[in-house]
Amino acid sequence: MTPIRLVTTGVCVTEAAAALDAHPEEWDTHTLRTTAYGTPHGGISDIWLRYNDWANFDGDGAKFNGPHESVWYPVADKLPALKALAEKVYAIAGGKVLGGVLITRIPPGGIVKPHVDSGWHAQNYEKFAVQIKGNGRQAFCFNDAKLRTYPGDVFTFDNSQEHWVTNESAGERITMICCLR
Ligand SMILES: [Fe+2]
Repeated sequence: MTPIRLVTTGVCVTEAAAALDAHPEEWDTHTLRTTAYGTPHGGISDIWLRYNDWANFDGDGAKFNGPHESVWYPVADKLPALKALAEKVYAIAGGKVLGGVLITRIPPGGIVKPHVDSGWHAQNYEKFAVQIKGNGRQAFCFNDAKLRTYPGDVFTFDNSQEHWVTNESAGERITMICCLR
């Protein structure tokens, strides 16, 4: 089975993109994922829209990433267009439980290096993503598959197989990843 698949196209992401443009200060409030030693996500920016309540973080990253129920983070109320987009993806995917929602940005020329996502959350949820900004010189890659996505495209992928994401364009790549089961 292919590890990555386009689900649908044409989802309106205009308001979500405008909200992100208007609030550059919301990136990288939580850097647990992007600054960990040896992370494949170095040089990447994140917004955590929904995940384990930050109040549960006591300095132990492994424990924090263990079994939990996700909650909306304050930014979801500040930027309702993002929350609405996540709920749209949830409806398209037909999920029962919505877990974490992460927005990730790869700068021009940037890359998410080859990796497999491990841990409780990665292993217990399916991944659906919506492209907020993107172009044909970017790709989500597996060893035997590659998908190029454009704004409004929704796709699903298997992050238990090695994957990486390239951005060989002059534009940024912004993706919202919704975890459901
Ligand atoms: Fe990944």
